[in-house]
Amino acid sequence: MAHSAELIIYDLDGVITDTAEFHFLAWKQLAEELDITFDRRFNERLKGISRMDSLELILALGGSKTALSMEKKLELAARKNGYYLELIEEISPGHILPGIKTLLDDNKQAGVKIALGSASKNAPHILDMLELSDYFDYIVDAAQVQKGKPDPETFTNAADALGVAYENCIGVEDAAAGVDAINSAGMFSVAVGDQSHLGHAHYRVDDTKDLMFENMIQCFQDWRKI
Ligand code: BG6
Ligand code: MG
Repeated sequence: MAHSAELIIYDLDGVITDTAEFHFLAWKQLAEELDITFDRRFNERLKGISRMDSLELILALGGSKTALSMEKKLELAARKNGYYLELIEEISPGHILPGIKTLLDDNKQAGVKIALGSASKNAPHILDMLELSDYFDYIVDAAQVQKGKPDPETFTNAADALGVAYENCIGVEDAAAGVDAINSAGMFSVAVGDQSHLGHAHYRVDDTKDLMFENMIQCFQDWRKI
């Protein structure tokens, strides 16, 4: 018998809206000020990772021999967030990625619950600016979890809050760390992006416009039959 999905947990940055690019630009600006150069390949490692963990990775890349004080690190993280907030100032429903609105509409119409699973402290604010908050039955942001992605807590937290068994959940991600988190939660992982870093997802598409609700459910059911 086919099992049906009861909850879909969506990542925000890079899945619902292209804020992943703004995070990249903001970190790049900060890194340049610190004389640290990094490229888009390195940036893949920052996707899905919390603000402070991202800063640590960038500082480690710079090979700074003298450890910075916590106060200095907090100042650098706040500076990056300032650049980021400037970049997202103009964000509007026009910045929802292609196919996502239809996907959320189909998801809602099918009576499958919807949650957000984001590592960002800015997530609730961005959802509001995109005018999407009403779609969500539950929101997990950085404030709710002890351990960020790749730990499964972001995803299990949403399932627990809505009383859904993990094997009846689907998680949607653009980050390798996010797919790791979904897989370790025992959920069905859907990835959007390149095979080179998302090959471990159960189902993957290249672009958000290829994320179709029916296809996701069909692949989930095939996975559950195994
Ligand atoms: C994730 C992004 O969603 O949120 C990361 O993929 C980002 O790039 C992280 O660092 C934390 O976001 P914020 O808004 O709390 O700095
Ligand atoms: Mg993301």
